[in-house]
Amino acid sequence: MNHPKQITLCAGSACWTRGNRENLQVLESLLAGISKPCEIRLGGCHCRSMCQHGPILFVDGNLFTRVTPQWLEKWIRTWLDPAGRAAP
Ligand code: FES
Repeated sequence: MNHPKQITLCAGSACWTRGNRENLQVLESLLAGISKPCEIRLGGCHCRSMCQHGPILFVDGNLFTRVTPQWLEKWIRTWLDPAGRAAP
């Protein structure tokens, strides 16, 4: 069983306009299709002074930079099915 994840998106203006607005919409859409959405908690944070690497987010406190919707989708799929058994 997967342990709950905490995803924290930077909602500072640079990250927000460079992609986290779209990333949030993608995350909400992806999570809506998960049978146990409570296993992922979404949150936001203020600017972390890493704007040049944005959009950034944290997963369980680990930093990810230049996050794209494509990366998020792949990450969610891998997290849900680490063995890659799910049909594409
Ligand atoms: S706006 Fe995200 S690190 Fe500055």
